[in-house]
Amino acid sequence: MASIIDGKKISEDMLDGLKSSIQKLKDEFNLTPGLAVVIVGDDPASHTYVNMKEKKCNEVGMYSEVHRLPESISELELLKIIEELNYNDKVHGILVQLPLPEHINEYTVNEHISFEKDVDGFHPVNIGNLQLNRPSFVPCTPKGIIELIKSTGTTIEGKNAVVLGRSNIVGLPTAMLLLNENATVTICHSRTKNLKETTLKADIIVCATGVHGVLTEDMIKEGVIIVDAGIIKLGDKMVGDVNFDDVMHKTSFITPVPGGVGPMTIAMLMKNTYEAALKCV
Ligand code: GUN
Repeated sequence: MASIIDGKKISEDMLDGLKSSIQKLKDEFNLTPGLAVVIVGDDPASHTYVNMKEKKCNEVGMYSEVHRLPESISELELLKIIEELNYNDKVHGILVQLPLPEHINEYTVNEHISFEKDVDGFHPVNIGNLQLNRPSFVPCTPKGIIELIKSTGTTIEGKNAVVLGRSNIVGLPTAMLLLNENATVTICHSRTKNLKETTLKADIIVCATGVHGVLTEDMIKEGVIIVDAGIIKLGDKMVGDVNFDDVMHKTSFITPVPGGVGPMTIAMLMKNTYEAALKCV
């Protein structure tokens, strides 16, 4: 019988601990961790995520500021705002919500965030450190995914892990983290041939494609662990990459959507920001 990995509960427990650590930092060092979030344009889903991040900062006792910028802002103006945040002592972590409008280059923006404040882990230095297995700031969703897998008590080392999706935000860094944990890692993507052949051998599958139904019951072996990082709006419901009801009876552990990976992402962002502040002590 499958067990559901309760990301909501795991993240709440983590955030409880973090809240106490933040209070300690305030009491002992008069230091309040601070997060600056920058959002460009009007994408409703992105605004929802940013509002959630702001709310969570307040709940754990962090300072937060949100820069809601118009779609028309130029890349240069955005870079100036980032530069100011790089020098702002109240701000220990900077996050620029993605995606950005087409006229703004994502790589240039990430490169301009001080790598010491890059709590998203998207700066080339932090990506390089992850690849060298000397992780500094690790992207939040992948970091949360590893915590969810570890929460099952499973040893990652030596397992066949398959990651569906190769995005810079989720798929690629998750694969690197699994490799650093000594799993045998296969990355599958939209050009992969015979996907089923690969997924049938997997002990752990991380889905991060944004395509609902990408993985079905006939593509998995008995006892597999599935972590679903997809968030897709289907009518008025949020669903993941996998059809949960279809696959769950064959899995040993599976994350739900919502309530799996999503809450862990925000918890890891809070953790990264706290750790950024801790370096200032
Ligand atoms: N858009 C979707 N996920 C993320 C994330 O983890 N960080 C940022 N900056 N933007 C996102």
